[in-house]
Amino acid sequence: MIYLNGEYLPLAEAKISVMDRGFLFGDGVYEVIPVYSRRPFRLTEHLQRLENSLAGVHLANPHTAEQWTELIGRIVAGAESEDQQVYLQITRGSDSVRNHVFPKRVTPSVFIMSEPLLTPSAAQRQRGIGAISATDIRWLRCDVKSTSLLANCLLRQLAVEAGCGETLLFRDGFLSEGTASNIFAVRNGVMLAPQKNHLMLPGITYDVVLELATAHGLRIEVRDILEEEVRQADELWMTSSTREVLAIVSLDGVPVGSGKPGPLYADMYGWYQEFKATVMRR
Ligand code: PDD
Repeated sequence: MIYLNGEYLPLAEAKISVMDRGFLFGDGVYEVIPVYSRRPFRLTEHLQRLENSLAGVHLANPHTAEQWTELIGRIVAGAESEDQQVYLQITRGSDSVRNHVFPKRVTPSVFIMSEPLLTPSAAQRQRGIGAISATDIRWLRCDVKSTSLLANCLLRQLAVEAGCGETLLFRDGFLSEGTASNIFAVRNGVMLAPQKNHLMLPGITYDVVLELATAHGLRIEVRDILEEEVRQADELWMTSSTREVLAIVSLDGVPVGSGKPGPLYADMYGWYQEFKATVMRR
């Protein structure tokens, strides 16, 4: 069952107008929320980011946090898997004509679905993933979680065609993020995190990793990270709600550090799993 504009329906029966601005213009925002043992992880933070994305594209939030929690709860309860990824999106709705200008009176379209959460396997974790690099050709509001993901898709496809798992994006000589992940570098025992700004998505997993690094006394620098620093890193990690924390072991065919997931990655992965277990027990 999915949720679409006030109704719970089987996916195959869910229909949306071809005049929907999400379809015509990619005019919408979204969230991906991991769910462990049927409990949404960091829901408050995901809903706050949704609020920020909506404000960024001048859309009113159609629901309160309590209403979102209720809607998501029903979708989670009706899904088969214990561990899920909930996808929700809001578009500006459909008008009778195609016009770039926002329609005056239009009801936003709200869609929620759940899919099984497929985190990387133990073997994948032990191997780590290869990445390539590319120029960040996206717009200048990457802090908005917009459904307009064409640039991300094109850039991600490059990685797949090179037999890799992610594309690292650089803008004007600095690291921004991955096509669907945030990126951390480790150099000389220091964890480097790009600082949040309009050039990257403020990841919920990114926040968890920073909190865990702080709690465990890791040396941390949150600042702009030069491309050279990424290329000379001892370790690279990618983070996202669906891949959690994953080691990047090569960049453009060059091994990162030893070419295997590094020791700080092992620590961070352990802390992340511990943290998840603790919050899920509460
Ligand atoms: N993407 N940066 C980008 C561009 C992303 O698309 C994502 C997540 C992240 C990581 O954010 P978080 O830790 O909150 O998941 C960073 C989701 C998973 C997606 O589009 O499927």
